[in-house]
Amino acid sequence: MSAPIGVFDSGVGGLSVLREIRRLMPRENLLYVADSGYVPYGEKPPEMIRERSLRIAEFLIEQGARALVLACNTATAAAVNELRSTFDMPIIGMEPAVKPAAAATRNGKVGVLATTGTLQSAKFAALLDRFARDVKVFTQPCPGLVECVEQGDLQGAQVRALLQRYVEPLMQAGCDTLILGCTHYPFLKPVLRDMLPPDVQLIDTGEAVARQLQARLGENGRLAAAGTGDVRFWSSGDPQLMAGVLPVLWGRPGAVAKLPV
Ligand code: DGL
Repeated sequence: MSAPIGVFDSGVGGLSVLREIRRLMPRENLLYVADSGYVPYGEKPPEMIRERSLRIAEFLIEQGARALVLACNTATAAAVNELRSTFDMPIIGMEPAVKPAAAATRNGKVGVLATTGTLQSAKFAALLDRFARDVKVFTQPCPGLVECVEQGDLQGAQVRALLQRYVEPLMQAGCDTLILGCTHYPFLKPVLRDMLPPDVQLIDTGEAVARQLQARLGENGRLAAAGTGDVRFWSSGDPQLMAGVLPVLWGRPGAVAKLPV
C-alpha cells in the first residue's frame, strides 16, 4: 500500500482542494486535517498559524504522509517557507490565482476575495508585484464567510448578505474577474453565480494545486500504482460538526476523529 498524502486547512475549506486531488488521483490514500478548533486563521497572527501548521505537519508525517498539501492560502502565506525548511518532502502550498486572473481579465480589472491574513502577507505583495503589473487589482477581505462554510451554511441569508457586501465594491470598481483566494470560498460559487452578472469570471486554484501535486509526485515516480485510495479525516474542533457537513462539502459521509494535537 502506498504512503498517504497529508492535506490540511484551518477547517473544512480545504475539502474544495481535496476533492480535486481525489478526482485526479483516485488511487492515492489521503489524510485530511481540519484545524477547526483554531478557525479562522484569516484573523490570527502569523506566528500562531506557523505553530499550528508545524504541529499538524508533524502529526500527518507520524501518520505516514509522504507529501503535504497546505490547502489554505492563509497558512501558505504564513508557514510554507518554515515547513519546507523543516521537512524534507514535497510540500505544495497555494496562493490566490493572480497570474491566471491577469491572463483571463478582458478589461484589466481583477478583484480578490481572500482573508485579511492572506491580503496583508508579504507573499501576496510579492505575487502582485510579479504578476499584476499590467492589471488593476482590487482586494476585499471577507471576515465571516469562513465561519458560515464551517457551519455548512452555503446559501442562507447570512452568507448571502456577507457576500453581497463583499462583492458590491468590486462590481462598482468594474472588475470582470474575481479570484476566490481562500479555499472555503469555492463552496459559495453557486450563490455567487446567482448574484453576479454572467460575464464575471470566478477563478480558484484547487484543480491547479492537484495537478501540481501530481506532477511533483510523478517526477519521483511516486504515484500510487493501483487500487482505490482511502480517505481519513481529523478535526481539532467538533468532529461531529465536521461529520455533519461532510455529505454537503465532500459529497458523502465519513468518520471524523478528534485531532490529538
Ligand atoms: N481556507 C483558508 C484559506 O484558504 C483560511 C480560512 C480561515 O481560516 O480564515 O485562506
